[in-house]
Amino acid sequence: MNSHLTNKQLFRMHLAQTSDFPMELEVERGEGIYLFGTDGKKYIDLISGIAVSSLGHGHSKIVEAVQRQAAEHMHVMVYGEFVQSPQVKLAKALSDTLPDPLDNVYFVNSGSEAVEGAMKLAKRFTGRHEIIACKNAYHGATQGTLSLGSEESFKQAFVPLLPGIRHIRFGEEDDLNLINHNTAAVFIETVQGEAGIQIASKDYYQKLRQRCSATGTLLVMDEIQTGFGRTGKFWGFEHYGILPDIITCAKGMGGGMPIGAFISSKSIMRVLQNNPVLGHISTFGGHPVSCAASLATLTEILETRVHESAEAKAMEFRRLLKHAKIKSIRHLGLMMAVEFESFDQVSKIIEKSMDLGLITDWFLFCDNSIRIAPPLIISMEQIKEACDILLEAIDGC
Ligand SMILES: Cc1ncc(COP(=O)(O)O)c(C=O)c1O
Repeated sequence: MNSHLTNKQLFRMHLAQTSDFPMELEVERGEGIYLFGTDGKKYIDLISGIAVSSLGHGHSKIVEAVQRQAAEHMHVMVYGEFVQSPQVKLAKALSDTLPDPLDNVYFVNSGSEAVEGAMKLAKRFTGRHEIIACKNAYHGATQGTLSLGSEESFKQAFVPLLPGIRHIRFGEEDDLNLINHNTAAVFIETVQGEAGIQIASKDYYQKLRQRCSATGTLLVMDEIQTGFGRTGKFWGFEHYGILPDIITCAKGMGGGMPIGAFISSKSIMRVLQNNPVLGHISTFGGHPVSCAASLATLTEILETRVHESAEAKAMEFRRLLKHAKIKSIRHLGLMMAVEFESFDQVSKIIEKSMDLGLITDWFLFCDNSIRIAPPLIISMEQIKEACDILLEAIDGC
């Protein structure tokens, strides 16, 4: 009997831990850009847990869609068999946001699963097994997606991982000639998120597209952090004037519910139907409640065009965040990194911010920067409120 223990004690005792230093904020509820702790404290959520809650917490239209769908039906059959209205409507709405021929959607439950599905699809479609990914990329934590990463410290304990994966430098044109007629696909983020918001040029992406086309290689763009408006365009690839062959999405897509997808053309996607039949399987992929939440999110973003103010809001952060300790700021829309001298400074600022009622964090592969990825609905006044706290935290460290 553990009933006398606090939730925090139970968390440490019974939840598998992923580090020795979890944030341990005990959340009671969320509303807009704010989270409220069980201690009665109000926090500005400047990371949207991470790059997920683009419309903020407790958005009435998302909550309503979830409740309505949960009451109608939840899980009824594995993915791909029954005609489920939330899936069909969402697939159509997603296709409408994309240029032809990207009109075929495979629903899964997470970002990693979307990337796994895309890896299988690329191999099956091209009949090739080599894949190229970028150094410092993050595509997920399953064994396949981990293989796409280059950070040895994350991989070493789990070898052997997938063979046939090579890494090129992100944004370096010289490396594009490593893509050849044996390459099934190039996997690339539209903006490298976990590398600390690294942005490659439009010219680079165009040359990458050309090289993939010339070698019959599929270009897979990972829109898991960048999709659904995070960078100021609905899809990140729209910044570059190119068309990927496959995109992967998740995170912000569900408005707080778990869902992911890989999206391609019908002609590519149809290879999953045979040799072998059921080329990819998921029990919960496209869960009706998640699809309903995602459709509500997509509809609301497109109706309010909230993503179109992301760039102006980022510029406001830049304008206000002036401090001698800030080395640089990188951003595309509301996907930002604020760079400091060291990890020591960064961890102190994160801790101090938390004390002052603001949630931020660092990046997997860039420990001298803090992350700013607030809900897209953040207002100019709330940006001021957030920057005041951040500057106070920086001063205090
Ligand atoms: C670009 C990118 N791809 C894939 C993933 C993996 O997504 P998930 O954690 O939902 O498996 C992430 C998660 O951070 C990501 O940022």
